[in-house]
Amino acid sequence: MQPTTSDLFKPASFIGGEWITSNTTFAVTNKATGELLADVADASQAHMTQAVQAAKSAFASWAALPAPNRAQLLRKWYELMIAKRDELAELLTLEQGKPLAEAKGEITYGAGYIEWFAEEARRLDGDIIPANSTGQRIHVTRHPVGVVGAITPWNFPNAMITRKAAAALAAGCTFVVKPARETPLSALALAALAKEAGIPAGVINVVTGTDSKALGKVLTESPDVAKFSFTGSTRVGKLLAADCTSTMKRVSMELGGNAPFVVFDDADIDAAVNGAMLAKFRNAGQTCVCANRFLIHQDVEEQFTARLTAKITELKMGNGMDSDTTIGPLITPNAAENVHKLVTAAIEQGALLRVGGNWTAGNFYPPTLLTGVSPDMDIVSEEIFGPVVTIMTFSDDAEAAVLANATEYGLASYFYSQNIGRIHRFADALQFGMVGINEGAISNPAAPFGGVKESGYGREGSKYGLDDYSFIQYRCLGGI
Ligand code: SIN
Repeated sequence: MQPTTSDLFKPASFIGGEWITSNTTFAVTNKATGELLADVADASQAHMTQAVQAAKSAFASWAALPAPNRAQLLRKWYELMIAKRDELAELLTLEQGKPLAEAKGEITYGAGYIEWFAEEARRLDGDIIPANSTGQRIHVTRHPVGVVGAITPWNFPNAMITRKAAAALAAGCTFVVKPARETPLSALALAALAKEAGIPAGVINVVTGTDSKALGKVLTESPDVAKFSFTGSTRVGKLLAADCTSTMKRVSMELGGNAPFVVFDDADIDAAVNGAMLAKFRNAGQTCVCANRFLIHQDVEEQFTARLTAKITELKMGNGMDSDTTIGPLITPNAAENVHKLVTAAIEQGALLRVGGNWTAGNFYPPTLLTGVSPDMDIVSEEIFGPVVTIMTFSDDAEAAVLANATEYGLASYFYSQNIGRIHRFADALQFGMVGINEGAISNPAAPFGGVKESGYGREGSKYGLDDYSFIQYRCLGGI
């Protein structure tokens, strides 16, 4: 498929309900073949300011729309996404690289946030608190914060947008997003469907461009943007959060992770291996919740490693559009080179290469497994963002907890055990925002996604996902 044949192919920014071209364009490539997919409008700061003003103008009427009406429009958007799932998935695979089956899964996942928040829009309620005197009443009401600015990553070009946009719109906010330059087509296709669903002009705006710093500055520094939301690296998140302080806007940050995957000696090893495949190889290891460090009890390490190795060798790396591909390319050759540097350094420091590791150039990195890894290696302290399993061992629960928490990150974590007492104790000991217990796939629109420590703050999805997009007003009614 060439994306140009799709009705959802819109290579321009979407501002105030119109497709806005620019004087210059940037190339979006097929990540499996390197071929040109599209020349997309390269927006300027003036375009971003125009988008913020469009969102500002649309805010009052969108916020005033009764919640069931907002819910209905979101529902329509969701239904269109489901109806166009195959087309959206093909665009996504072409520009991002993940296998088509995974891309379809992402569309269902992304649409799930819209469905979820369409329902939650009707439940944005307040409180009545007993007052101190009979002549007073205390009411607490909830209100949309205003214009939301967002910057989203290339690893989930659909779902990382919907989980911010749907929450914002459900709460009555309007929305401006700058998608990653590597994957703007999925974002623009979402905007086309929002327009078709009847979401009014200016409520959703998508600004595509290459000058991330300049475009981001408008979102972080404009007094007209009330809330800023970012998904990406901790390094960039810190810079963006600092830029937001001049206007004291609300900020939520979904940043890097370094997830431990712990297997106790009482675990169901087959279940742990299946969970490890999901937690490690989804999107070729390019997710913030991917297992980054495998901590395996010394008595089951051999068994776990042998079974995991067998599963890894069944993976078929290739073009995501081919039906037998189960693992696609990394986003760029540079990303593969960074993964390879970590692998090479670990081997030099004493790790044993058991599978893969044979990379010379390009963005396809082979699924790799290393044993004999130790906590002082860079591959343990850094987010790998690639298909590499690193295995360390432990001998008791206390050691496992210390090793698992030995990171500045606190996003996802996973562990496998059949002992209910240990399950509670170990979950209590983990300093992470999300814990998969006997489960390798934890992402779900109904659940609060987010981290602690340097993985950021704020939650996306679930009923908590609306908190960042609304403020509470306390009303003291006297003289009653
Ligand atoms: C991420 O990698 O940031 C998100 C992954 C997910 O939603 O599961």
